[in-house]
Parts: sequence; C-alpha cells; structure tokens
Amino acid sequence: MGGALMRLICFLLLSCGGGIGYVNSEPTQEKQALLAFLSRTPHKNRVQWNASDSACNWVGVECDANRSFVYSLRLPGVGLVGPIPPNTLGKLSQLRVLSLRSNRLSGEIPSDFSNLTLLRSLYLQSNQFSGVFPASVTRMNRLTRLDLSSNNFSGKIPFDVNNLTHLTGLFLENNKFSGNLPSINPANLRDFNVSNNNLNGSIPATLSKFPQSAFTGNLDLCGGPLPPCNPFFPSPAPSPSLPPPVAPVHKKSNKLSTAAIVGIAVGGAVFIVLLLLLLLFCLKKRRRQRPGKAPKPPAAATARAVTMEAGTSSSKDDITGGAAEADRNKLVFFEGGVYSFDLEDLLRASAEVLGKGSVGTSYKAVLEEGTTVVVKRLKEVAVGKREFEMQMEVLGKIKHDNVVPLRAFYYSKDEKLLVYDYMPAGSLSALLHGSRGSGRTPLDWDNRMRIALSAARGLAHLHVSGKIVHGNIKASNILLRPDHDACVSDFGLNPLFGNTTPPTRVAGYRAPEVVETRKVTFKSDVYSFGVLLLELLTGKAPNQASLGEEGIDLPRWVQSVVREEWTAEVFDVELMRYHNIEEEMVQLLQIAMGCVSTVPDQRPAMQEVVRMIEDMNRGETDDGLRQSSDDPSKGSDGHTPPPESRTPPTALTP
Ligand SMILES: *[C@@H]1O[C@H](CO)[C@@H](O)[C@H](O)[C@H]1NC(C)=O
Ligand SMILES: *[C@@H]1O[C@H](CO)[C@@H](O)[C@H](O)[C@H]1NC(C)=O
Ligand SMILES: *[C@@H]1O[C@H](CO)[C@@H](O)[C@H](O)[C@H]1NC(C)=O
Ligand SMILES: *[C@@H]1O[C@H](CO)[C@@H](O)[C@H](O)[C@H]1NC(C)=O
Ligand SMILES: *[C@@H]1O[C@H](CO)[C@@H](O)[C@H](O)[C@H]1NC(C)=O
Ligand SMILES: *[C@@H]1O[C@H](CO)[C@@H](O)[C@H](O)[C@H]1NC(C)=O
Ligand SMILES: *[C@@H]1O[C@H](CO)[C@@H](O)[C@H](O)[C@H]1NC(C)=O
Repeated sequence: MGGALMRLICFLLLSCGGGIGYVNSEPTQEKQALLAFLSRTPHKNRVQWNASDSACNWVGVECDANRSFVYSLRLPGVGLVGPIPPNTLGKLSQLRVLSLRSNRLSGEIPSDFSNLTLLRSLYLQSNQFSGVFPASVTRMNRLTRLDLSSNNFSGKIPFDVNNLTHLTGLFLENNKFSGNLPSINPANLRDFNVSNNNLNGSIPATLSKFPQSAFTGNLDLCGGPLPPCNPFFPSPAPSPSLPPPVAPVHKKSNKLSTAAIVGIAVGGAVFIVLLLLLLLFCLKKRRRQRPGKAPKPPAAATARAVTMEAGTSSSKDDITGGAAEADRNKLVFFEGGVYSFDLEDLLRASAEVLGKGSVGTSYKAVLEEGTTVVVKRLKEVAVGKREFEMQMEVLGKIKHDNVVPLRAFYYSKDEKLLVYDYMPAGSLSALLHGSRGSGRTPLDWDNRMRIALSAARGLAHLHVSGKIVHGNIKASNILLRPDHDACVSDFGLNPLFGNTTPPTRVAGYRAPEVVETRKVTFKSDVYSFGVLLLELLTGKAPNQASLGEEGIDLPRWVQSVVREEWTAEVFDVELMRYHNIEEEMVQLLQIAMGCVSTVPDQRPAMQEVVRMIEDMNRGETDDGLRQSSDDPSKGSDGHTPPPESRTPPTALTP
C-alpha cells in the first residue's frame, strides 16, 4: 500500500489539507537518486524509467498527494542484480514503503539506509543479501513490518531490534543468523519467524508465545514452544533483565537425570490436576443436588439458579418475591418458535455467564433435553408489565435471517427474562479482538465484508419493517452464524428503561447527540453502525486505549490518521496480508465516514447503507481475481509491468 491508496482515501474523504492538487512539480533530487540507483544496478529491462517524465509516474514509484516526495518504491521481482549502490536509495528520506523483494540483490545493506527514518515497511526478502543484521535498519524506529527472510544474513540478531518499538511483523527465517535469540519485545509484535537459521540456546520468554514453526530448523534452540532446554547446561540468558523461561526450575536438583526430572515434574503436575478435578467435581455435584431436591418453586429457582451460577448475590427478598408471583407469571413464547420447554426446564438448565452488559447479564443455558438458549436477565426495568408485554409483542414479531430472534420472555415483579437463540460461533467482538497473535485465524477481508453487509441488512430490517430503533449496536451484539453471516441481537430494549438510555452504554459507539439527549434514534443507530464499520476496517475497538490520546474516539482517530499521517496504518495490520483489496477498503471507509457524520441529517438511512455496501465495486472477474486499484499494469504507459503476482498470504508484501 502506498501513495496511490492514500491519494484515493484523500480524494474520497475530501478532508486532506492540500486536496489532490498537484502543487509541487517534482521531487528532483529523489528523481536523480532513483535514476542513479537503476543505472548502477544491473536489471532485466522490465523497468524503464523515462527520464523526461515525472518520477511520480514511473512504474513502482508512488509520491505523496502533492507530488513533492517519493512515498513508496516497490520493485518486486524485476530482476535487479548485485549490490544496492550507496548514496542512491538512502536519499529518499521521505520513503515510507520500500519493497525490493524477490530479486537477486546481494552484498550488504548500504549504511546510508539509516537516513530512511520514516520507513514503515521494509521488504527485502528473497534476495541474496549478506553480512550482519544491518545496523542502519535498527535506526528506522518507525518500522512496523521488517522482512529480511530468505537471504544470506549471518551473525547475531542484535538486541537493538528492540529499538523498533512499532514492529508488528519481523521475518528473519531462511538466513544464517547464529548465536542466541535476544529477548525481542515490541508491544505489538504479532508475526515473528526465525526458522531455518543457525540459532542456539533458549527461546526467551517474550517470544515463547509464537508457534513452534517460527523456530524450527535451527541448530539448537530450546524452551518455549520447543522441547525444554537441557537443565545441566543452561544457556546464558539472552537478556540480563529476563530470566530464561525453563532452566532455573530444574537447575537445583543436580543429581537426577533429565528423564527423572521430567518424570517427576509431569507426574506432579498430573497429580495436582487430578486433585483439582476431584475437588471441582465434588463441589459441582453438591451444587447440582440442591435445586433438584428442593420442591420446585419455579420463579424462586430461576432467580437462584441464575444467580448461583453467575456468582452474584441476590437478596432473599428477590427470591421469595418471585415465588409469590410464580403462578401468575409464565414463560411466554412467540408464535413460530421451535422450542417446547417450560419455565421449570429453564430453571433446571445449567447456566454459564456469557456477558454482562448495561441492561443485564446474558447466560448460556443448556436444558436437560439438550437445547441451548440464551437467557438475558434484565436489570432495572423501568416500565410496568403492560408496557413490557407490548414491547415484547413488537420485538417477538421480528423475523429476519440477520436478526437474532427473540423466542420468549418472562415477567415477574423481580425477574425479567428474555430468551433468544444461541449462536455458537460467538460475537464479532470476540472474533475481532479475542486473543490476537499466535494460533488465531485472522478475520479475512471477505468475511469482514460479509459481516458488514449482513449486519447492515439486519439493522435495516429492524428500521424499515419493524420500525424499531436498535439502540445498542456494538461488536459484542453482532453474533455470527457458522457461515459468517451476521445477526444483530439485543435490539429494541431501550423503551424498557424509560426515556433515558443507561449511561453505562459503551461510549465509543454513541452518537454525539445521544451523549446529550440520551435518546436513541434511527440516525444514532446509523452512527453506531458506522463506528462498527470502522472497527472492522481498523481492527481497533472503539473504546480501546491504544487510540493514543485519551478521550479520542474511533471516528476522530481515523480522521486524524488519514489527514495528518498519510499512511495506510489506519487499516488493520491483519488485512495487510491480503492483496488487491485496497479499493474496497477505501470504499467501505467512505461509507463508514458518512455514517459517523456529526450532524444526524447528514447520515444516510440504514437501507441506503445496505445499498451502498451492495453496490461496492467488488470487481470479481471471471477467473476469481479482483481488479486492483493498485495494479501496476494500469497507467504504466505501455511499459511492461513488473510481474507482481498475487502473493500467497504468508508473504506479507506491500
Ligand atoms: C501540500 O502542499 C500544500 C501547499 O504547499 C500544503 O498546504 C499541504 O499541507 C500539503 N499537503 C501535504 C499532505 O503535504
Ligand atoms: C518520455 O516522456 C516524454 C514526455 O512525457 C515523451 O515525449 C517521450 O516519448 C517518452 N519516451 C519514451 C521512450 O517513452
Ligand atoms: C543522510 O542525512 C544526513 C543528515 O540529514 C545528510 O547529511 C546525509 O547527506 C544523508 N545521506 C544521504 C546518503 O542522503
Ligand atoms: C537503540 O537504543 C539504545 C537505547 O536507547 C541506544 O543506546 C542504541 O544506540 C540504539 N541503537 C541504534 C542502532 O539506534
Ligand atoms: C553467503 O554468505 C557467505 C559468507 O557469510 C558466503 O561465503 C556465501 O558464498 C554466501 N552465499 C551466497 C549464496 O551468496
Ligand atoms: C516460518 O517460516 C517457515 C519457513 O518459511 C515456515 O515453514 C513456517 O510455517 C513459518 N512459521 C510461521 C509461524 O510463520
Ligand atoms: C551457541 O553457539 C555459539 C557459537 O557457535 C557457541 O559459542 C555457544 O557455546 C553455543 N551455545 C549453546 C548454548 O550451545
């Protein structure tokens, strides 16, 4: 991703300082540097830069919107041979992205690369570079992706890699790096690979979260995901500040063999686990028995079963009060439902807390017959029984593939329960933000688009057919079907709480006017949906502290990044591995920005949002490949484009 994308974003959002007016004519010095580079580096004639044309029009070169500096240089697989001449590329001091992957470049990385201090992404993989880990690279302290894999680098991996604090991906596999692994620890490092080198010694604790395949094929690495280190020859701790992860535990028992130690350790662990299981089993059995033996007081048991499992305390009054009304209050099912259980079945179900929200707590309840449902236990309901039932009537009628159906409700003085279908695939929030890093399948672009569209359809159905304001759109209320279609849940509950929205609602999704008036509307739903789209695009939770400044919300953060920084960093790094999706991301970003307009009237209606997403130029051609805004073959004036292949996902190229 580079200048073209940013120009596009800028153009679409119309919010960038200089617009796209071509103010400055030409980055002359940079042009000279580029010409010097190409003339002094033998290459196949795939790249021909016309010296009388602007450098910004050259194949592989992208400039900023003002065309005043070169923003990215990407020459993958164009047959460049030999060393990078000094004093050429090092002069592109504004460069953000440099990709020279898959050439036959060799020699050391020139020391003047240390001038490329603004570089965010450096892709040098699949060449024949040699020498030690380039010191110049450890000075590029804004780097987020560094790929030196499949080269001939040797020597130690320096501890100074830690100077690259923004690093999210570090790829050093298939080289000849030797010595110990330093404890590399950038906060956001998500992808890491040092496999197939000559490393030895223990894997530092900071890196042990990465999978085994990130370390295999080395001389003698141990610990972490690999088998434990030999305790009698503990390797020196790679970093003095961090103890080696495994060795010290075993160190003391000097007279036992490794096998014996391992045996004892494993045996001990198994014993403790067994003991714990036994204890748990006993406790659980006792709990289970109690409600069963009691002579079934329906409502009382609801309260108890639910509170017990939730681990919260409920006052005695609650329980008896519920029991008194039990006869008059029954579980009310809506027509067309598939369930045939009664309140007592629900009471005997085992419950597990799914989440605590602003309007109450949700439980997953597994009935004895095997059915699983979600029970939502509302707190602080402000309306009386009649109004409650009327609203339930409205909500129970909603039937749509992208709306989680409300199946039943229960109302008593002290207990208000809603019964919904259970969606085993979980929520968008869990999918997007749950355990990032090792072992997680990232949510790919196609699925994100699918979620965006299906959630939009569900919400539009609520608005148009149901005339219902959802009132609480957020990622944890977007649930997924196994096929990754989304359904919206938790809709239309605001009227139950009187005129005021519960103030504890997740702030990041609230439209500005709702903060003031506490009243949700169709347009405030659209705002929240816009925030949700931004969340899908950026991978950031709207209430996440990592947005930098305190109190800044996701829409403003996106605007500031797009306007000021001129980088593709606004998009989720997990999306960087997919190719030819830039245009779609920008289109969706544009829709999202429309939804989060400060002025409610400027936001589109939900059905328009659906149409815009449907109309998005998802240019799938017959062979399944997408047309790309970033396709180098476009606008290259008849020059043979570099053979930029659709790289497999793991290559992580720009
Ligand atoms: C483009 O140039 C104009 C005028 O020189 C300047 O005001 C604007 O900030 C520049 N835009 C960017 C993104 O550098
Ligand atoms: C180089 O660019 C100039 C000006 O754009 C053009 O007149 C000329 O034909 C180009 N030369 C080649 C070889 O494409
Ligand atoms: C690197 O930057 C320094 C200071 O800005 C400058 O003096 C030097 O000439 C630059 N080196 C190259 C190769 O551009
Ligand atoms: C990395 O940071 C340390 C401490 O800030 C500093 O001493 C060292 O010179 C830096 N290394 C490089 C290559 O910039
Ligand atoms: C790799 O580097 C070593 C020296 O470190 C050198 O002897 C060898 O020829 C290099 N191999 C290639 C393929 O460049
Ligand atoms: C690391 O690289 C090796 C070799 O390219 C590959 O087989 C392995 O799957 C990679 N592991 C990870 C976690 O990326
Ligand atoms: C790791 O390799 C280096 C150099 O080959 C050697 O000096 C060192 O003793 C080795 N360390 C371990 C723990 O094997």
